[in-house]
Amino acid sequence: MSAIPRERRSAWSLAILLGVVVTVTLQIFSGIAMGLGWMSLLAFHIEDGMAAALFILLEWLWLTGTRPGRRALGHLFPTVGQRWRAAGRQCRDIFLNRPTPALNTIVEGAFLLIATLAVLLGLLLAFTALPARFPLLLAGHRALAGLLALLWIIHLLLALHAALGRRAAARRC
Ligand code: HEM
Repeated sequence: MSAIPRERRSAWSLAILLGVVVTVTLQIFSGIAMGLGWMSLLAFHIEDGMAAALFILLEWLWLTGTRPGRRALGHLFPTVGQRWRAAGRQCRDIFLNRPTPALNTIVEGAFLLIATLAVLLGLLLAFTALPARFPLLLAGHRALAGLLALLWIIHLLLALHAALGRRAAARRC
């Protein structure tokens, strides 16, 4: 989520962002491991999930409750037209092997939104009696986790592409 200009984020808001990234990444990996049968990770998954829920709540409070946060919100959730134009530009630059923005804000906004939904479903799964009545809750939680893992990989590839582009440009100078 670092396409938000660094100078606009204070140290504490960067710490919140780091908390979101670390705890959600651990949730993705522990969720996948549970899916592969390592159910002994469930206690860790729930504890780290509660930490992820706290960091995500703080991130939303920063995004909606501070002036730099509201500016960042506009970058994370642009209008649909802006979103498609930016995605088109990014794809074109990747295919033409031109440098692209460090990290794609569209992916970052989607990541935050889907992580929020996955965490909300996770809390319902862990702390309410709803899963017994709505078995689709776990299926929804798993589907959101799959999307999140995909966005995580796209995010990583875009970051690598941007870093390699910057290195090649620095060598040419
Ligand atoms: C972004 C955050 C999250 C991701 C990516 C994630 C991922 C997953 C995945 C992939 C599974 C399925 C594992 C399986 O197939 O058995 C799962 C299950 C589960 N998750 Fe999460 N999760 C997240 C957040 C949370 C939170 C916040 C909680 C609660 C505090 C939570 C509680 C649970 C529970 C109770 C299960 C059910 C385990 C079972 O009965 O099979 N998750 N999660």
